[in-house]
Amino acid sequence: MLIAGLEMRLGPDEGTQESLPSLRVTRNELRTSDIRTSEGRAHGATKVVSIVGARPNFVKLAPVHRTLVEHFDHIVVHTGQHYDYSLSKIFFQHLNLPDPDYELGVGSGSHGYQVGEMMKKVEEVLLSERPRIALVYGDTNTTLAGALAAAKVRVPVAHVEAGLRCFDMEMPEEVNRVLTDHMSRYLFAPTKTAVENLLREHCQGEVLLTGDVMVETLRDSTKLAERESHVIDDLGLRSSPYILVTVHRAENTDDRHRLSSIVEALTRIEKRVVFPIHPRTVKALEEHGLYGKLTSRRNVTTTQPLGFLDFIKLEKHASMIVTDSGGVQKEAYLLGVPCITLRETTEWVETVREGWNRVVGVDVEKITRAVETFKPRRRRGRVFGTGKASKKIAEALTKAIN
Ligand code: UD1
Ligand code: UDP
Repeated sequence: MLIAGLEMRLGPDEGTQESLPSLRVTRNELRTSDIRTSEGRAHGATKVVSIVGARPNFVKLAPVHRTLVEHFDHIVVHTGQHYDYSLSKIFFQHLNLPDPDYELGVGSGSHGYQVGEMMKKVEEVLLSERPRIALVYGDTNTTLAGALAAAKVRVPVAHVEAGLRCFDMEMPEEVNRVLTDHMSRYLFAPTKTAVENLLREHCQGEVLLTGDVMVETLRDSTKLAERESHVIDDLGLRSSPYILVTVHRAENTDDRHRLSSIVEALTRIEKRVVFPIHPRTVKALEEHGLYGKLTSRRNVTTTQPLGFLDFIKLEKHASMIVTDSGGVQKEAYLLGVPCITLRETTEWVETVREGWNRVVGVDVEKITRAVETFKPRRRRGRVFGTGKASKKIAEALTKAIN
């Protein structure tokens, strides 16, 4: 059993993988005026919509939602890009988010299928709700589809985490970022570098340096994770230093050579390795005949994708993080854990500049050498802001609407 502590206490029906939700556009019945009022949202408040659908969207939504409900009638639309319990619902539970108001159930498929289906269904919601602003988060297909659907029905788009660039248009996330930024009326940039990128590209929206919303997500969740998650004991990690690994980006999973190189490097590491595996990666490891090689190593512990509280507890106590994730690079920095990035480029350049992240690609020697030798030498600065991003976003939206 891989799921730890808190998740086990969530109840017998909630720990199982959910099947793909229905494709019908339905408004969640829970979202009645009574409930909304009792949550502190005033009747007749201005409507704003957030469009989310994948794990990294949910962690950004959480602090923004908490702030927006104080000012607006905040409607949350879940496209269904991620639908497994461990990639979706558990985040709403761990981040104390209410169920989404709309679940569009789009599910997996090609980029064209996903973006097309999401656009059609998001458009339906926007036409029926007529919000004043649509917020999108990060760089997933949900982000792009949400922005495109809103821009086409002339609902102004606000992009949370605008301006990030790794300058590699081969990556689907970079395509999503660039296009979303150029469609957005309000560009909420987490860093100065992001602001510079937006200005250099002459994006037409209003640019605001807000700091990063994930500073707030971590601030709100780390104490809770320390208290509630038993993942360290459940995985038997109390007595030995361990390296936390995540790999799921398409450029690593879909290329046998790159994935094989990563697996080879992980099996050569002497320390304990803990690797919660994304379903895309499980599939790729199996297809490329690499799953057995990885899981048969005694030092490697693999798990299902973990809930947010378990995962950030593992991050906080890791001696090092090895990842190709964007959000995990940033969390490693915020938590003060050295990070090795298995990509050729990163959009989180501050983590590298400040000396806490080394981008090594997938060369076996480079990975193993970095794991053995990398030690950050500088103190961390507040490059991602001071935890006021959601407040600045709410203020900017209030000003824009009034
Ligand atoms: C998406 C994002 C990526 C982000 C990642 C976070 C895009 C283009 N990519 O990648 O930027 O880092 O989410 O985790 O939006 N699957 C399941 N269960 C699920 C969801 C997916 O088994 O609940 C499997 C399916 O086989 C699916 C595959 O994972 O085909 C990929 O899912 P998809 O949503 O297309 O992209 P991610 O790899 O998750
Ligand atoms: N995460 C998690 N459990 C896991 C792996 C990641 O809770 O098993 C969280 C992580 O803390 C971060 C977010 O998921 O907040 C990042 O998502 P992901 O790496 O999937 O996407 P990316 O940031 O690369 O787009």
